[in-house]
Amino acid sequence: MKIVARSENDFSRAALALAAGELVAFPTETVYGLGANALDSAAVAGIFAAKSRPRFNPLIVHVHDFGAATEYAAFSTLAEELADAFWPGPLTLVLPRLENCPLSPLVSSGLDTVALRSPAHKVARRLLETAQLPIAAPSANRSGRISPTSAADVHAELGDVPAIILDGGRCPIGLESTVIRVTEDGPQILRSGALPREEIEEVLGRKLSSFGGIEGAPLSPGQLASHYAPDSAIRLGATDPKPGEAFLTFGPDAPPFDGPTFNLSESGDLQEAAANFFHALRALDETAAGSIAVMPIPFEGLGEAINDRLQRAAAER
Ligand code: TXA
Ligand code: MG
Repeated sequence: MKIVARSENDFSRAALALAAGELVAFPTETVYGLGANALDSAAVAGIFAAKSRPRFNPLIVHVHDFGAATEYAAFSTLAEELADAFWPGPLTLVLPRLENCPLSPLVSSGLDTVALRSPAHKVARRLLETAQLPIAAPSANRSGRISPTSAADVHAELGDVPAIILDGGRCPIGLESTVIRVTEDGPQILRSGALPREEIEEVLGRKLSSFGGIEGAPLSPGQLASHYAPDSAIRLGATDPKPGEAFLTFGPDAPPFDGPTFNLSESGDLQEAAANFFHALRALDETAAGSIAVMPIPFEGLGEAINDRLQRAAAER
C-alpha cells in the first residue's frame, strides 16, 4: 500500500508525483479527492480512466486561494462575495473560464465554465502550497460509487491507482462541497452539499434557485439520478426494518433492531450524521444484508445534502 502519513518528505514526494503527471489522493474537509495537475491533459485524462468516469462529467479544480482562482475564471461581484465569505471551505464555484485559461480543457469537459474550490483541510492546503499547481480532483471513488472519507476507503476503491495516498484521517464534514453556478441569471445550486443552502442565502440576502433535481435534464453533468450507489438495494423512509435487511437510523427514537444497524447520530445532530454518512453506508453495504432500510432524515441544514445522496443511492440503476 502506498498510504503515507504527512511528513515534510511526503508532501515533497506528492508534489513531485503531481508535477510528473501522476495521481495523488488527498483528504479535504469534505471527502478524499483523486488529484492530478490540472494544467496537464494527459494527467487529467488519467483521472477519467482511473475512475471509469464519463468524459462529459467535468472536474473540480482545487486552488490554494482566491488569487490563484482569478488566473483561471472570471469572477463577477457576486462570485467574489461568495469566495470571500466561504473560501477556504466546502464551496465550489462554477464560473466562466478566462479566454487564455491555461487549465486543461478536459477539466471542463469542453464547456466554457470551470469549477473552482479552495479547500480548508490543512493537508490539502499544504499539498497545494508545496506543489504550486492547480489540482483537478473528483472524489476518489470509482464513478457512481460511494465517496471515500478515509485513506482506507480510497484504497478500497482505487487500490494502487494513486501513486500516493496522503492520509489525513477521517474527513471532518464527510459530504462533498456545495456546487454553485454563478451566471447573469443569478446564482444557482447545481449540487447540494457540505455548505448548507441557508448559510449561502444569508450571505446573498436572497433565495437560491435549485437545479431541478434528479428528474430534470442534467445541467451539471454530475447530477445523474443513480450515484453514490452501494451494492445493496436502498429502501428510504423506513421505520420498520425487515429481517435480512440492514438498518441506517438517525436520532434518539430509532426503533430497536436485531440485524446490522448504524445510527448516524443518536442525538439527532445533522452535522454528526453527515460526518458518519458515507462511512455508515459503506459499513452496512459490507454486511451480508442485501438491502439497507433507511430512517427518514430531516431536510434542513446538512439534511438536504444527505437526502440528496440517499435519493441517488436509491435510484434505479
Ligand atoms: O467535496 C468535493 O467537491 C470533492 C472534493 C474532492 O473536492 N470533489 C467532488 O468532485 O465531489 P466530483 O467530481 O465527484 O464532483 C464534481 C461535481 C460534479 O457534479 C460535476 O458535474 C460538477 O461538480 N462540475 C464540475 N465542473 C462543472 C462545470 N464546469 N459545470 C457544471 N458542473 C460542474
Ligand atoms: Mg463524486
